[in-house]
Amino acid sequence: MDREHAYVRIQELREIITEANRRYYVESAPTMSDYDFDMALKELEALEKEYPEFVTPDSPTHKVGSDLSASKSSGKEFEQFPHRYPMLSLGNTYDLGEVEAFAERAAKGIGNAFTYSCELKFDGTAICLTYRDGKLFRALTRGDGTVGDEVTRNVKNISNIPQQLSIPAGFVPTQDHRHPWPEEFEIRGEIYMPWAAFDRLNEERVKDEEQPFANPRNAASGSLKLTDSRMVAKRGLECTLYHMLGENLPFQTHDQALEAARSWGLPVSDKRRICRNTEEIEEFINYWDTERKTLPFATDGIVIKVNELPYQAELGYTAKFPRWAVAYKFKAEQALTRLISIDYQVGRTGAVTPVANLEPVQLSGTVVKRASLHNADQMQLLDIHVGDYVYVEKGGEIIPKITGVELSQRASDVILPLFPDVCPDCRTPLVKDEQEAKSFCPNQTGCPTQIKGRLVHFLSRKAMNVIAGDATVEQLFNKALVWNVADFYELTKDHLLTLEGWKNRLAERFLKSIEDSKKVTFDHVLYALGIRYVGEATARSVARHFGNVDAIAAATVEELLQVEDVGDVIAESIHDFFADEANLEVVRRLKEVGLQMEMTEGPQKVSDALAGKTVVISGNFSISREEMKAMIVAHGGKNSGSVSGKTAFLLAGEKAGPEKLKKAESLGIRVMTEDEFMEMVGDSHVNEGTLF
Ligand code: IVH
Repeated sequence: MDREHAYVRIQELREIITEANRRYYVESAPTMSDYDFDMALKELEALEKEYPEFVTPDSPTHKVGSDLSASKSSGKEFEQFPHRYPMLSLGNTYDLGEVEAFAERAAKGIGNAFTYSCELKFDGTAICLTYRDGKLFRALTRGDGTVGDEVTRNVKNISNIPQQLSIPAGFVPTQDHRHPWPEEFEIRGEIYMPWAAFDRLNEERVKDEEQPFANPRNAASGSLKLTDSRMVAKRGLECTLYHMLGENLPFQTHDQALEAARSWGLPVSDKRRICRNTEEIEEFINYWDTERKTLPFATDGIVIKVNELPYQAELGYTAKFPRWAVAYKFKAEQALTRLISIDYQVGRTGAVTPVANLEPVQLSGTVVKRASLHNADQMQLLDIHVGDYVYVEKGGEIIPKITGVELSQRASDVILPLFPDVCPDCRTPLVKDEQEAKSFCPNQTGCPTQIKGRLVHFLSRKAMNVIAGDATVEQLFNKALVWNVADFYELTKDHLLTLEGWKNRLAERFLKSIEDSKKVTFDHVLYALGIRYVGEATARSVARHFGNVDAIAAATVEELLQVEDVGDVIAESIHDFFADEANLEVVRRLKEVGLQMEMTEGPQKVSDALAGKTVVISGNFSISREEMKAMIVAHGGKNSGSVSGKTAFLLAGEKAGPEKLKKAESLGIRVMTEDEFMEMVGDSHVNEGTLF
């Protein structure tokens, strides 16, 4: 490549890598496979080495990808704190030869006998925990390596991360060491989502017509950045810790540090081995390359670290990586098979998705027959033809995806597929949503597939929970007995008995189930309406925020944006839904037949008495601690676990913690009793029927 072409290619690679980094770290929705990403980065590194005059300080070869939540407009930022020690990434390779080269470099640098710690490379999102006096003090994401997002509250909802360290059996305190742990230390690791939790989450998302996560790693990083910590607790995240840092730590080896951490109750993997040479390292790699498929979580490689801490210090760091560690990455499993045909499916929201029918092929233990092609752009990008031999990859997704075409095996009779320009069901011309790169059938009120999809969704378990499935809806629709969801409430036994195979008992059961659905709470009703992008959790937040359907229907986009976890797209969608007269008519009819159109527990917000105030609670109260926390939030306040300069007051119940009381006293922070607190928030103003 000549100099000019090299320059153009360097620019191109930087753009590709920067965009891929953003999609991966910020949006938790990658567009590029890990392998392609690593290869692009390596190509850029090689070109920069050959043409050093083109190296710039902001090149992605010098920086770690950033996970900082950048979107100021969405208001979903986390507080950011600097890392005490930079949080770097690892040099990685897919090549055993490069692992050997790493070992040789390390041996040369050290000049003495040393060992390696070989470990699994956990495929999640990096976390840095600080423990002070044995208590979890702060959790930061990697961020850009220099500053991270503070996610302590969310991390406290991960079940295997202790908030308080435990003293190992047999520990005898001395004057100098009252506790087994250093006064302050950092321990870094990975937060990941085990396969079982990932499958469960994605199944739910698919049912809710939300975009499933591409892999457990994205699911983990997306979950860690949720603004509602209670949701985090439900996501089934786990943590494993693999790197301790601090001033004057009393350990000689990395292995000793991890074993100590384990003895204090911290989650440390036991799938580690101390190796003395490259043969042992390779044995470990080969063993886990096969065995990893039996693990309940995803691993994408092996990390090899110099075990002796003084030697680690001697080898030090480059701008981006430690010189004392390297990651060997496993290649994602792929299979090559023939593309037989492409189906175009219409969903409840009208989105048309291309799905590939494949010659069945074995891949990571299952037979794959169908694979996702995402959208027209992706098809074009792959230059896919029917009859082509294509690569399928599973990389953790529920639906395998096509990652490439084997052009060397392209026959002369392959056919270029044409993405339909009309709906495969109702023949209405499709419209393209440029932002989402998806095609939609706009005939929402007339396209049978969309109508039936909405009806099925309305009856589903998490919506109105009516005992009926696709087949019932199909029958009712075909007999023209239901057209929109309000029609379900006008069905009579006589109507039902006209359906093939329906007898008295079945009809009565169905009608009873329809009747019971009138008791379903408003948040589920709102979800049942099938507003685009409004999943179960969003419906709950919106319902609680506004309290009733009329308030939602009257809300402006700006007002909708005030709801936690509602961004521009969702706000617009809700607004559009209620701007449509036909939808309002359905809502009116549903209200008339007696569906719940308001939250019986009242709106979440009761008053602004505590607006802008951070409150710490300690001890027992006349109501449960959870209720007390909810009450603080309901009055506009924030609850925090530890007393600091930012604390407005300490709400102390019976048996309040002496440490908290002491801290509050030393900082001159007011200590309040439950009675004083109730008076302050004016509990007499709380309406009957509210949560409290
Ligand atoms: S050690 C100075 N050990 O992989 C770097 N990292 O691709 C110390 N990772 O940034 C990191 N498993 O987020 C280390 N056993 C392990 C790991 C591990 C997963 C992650 C970590 C790192 C990334 C590099």
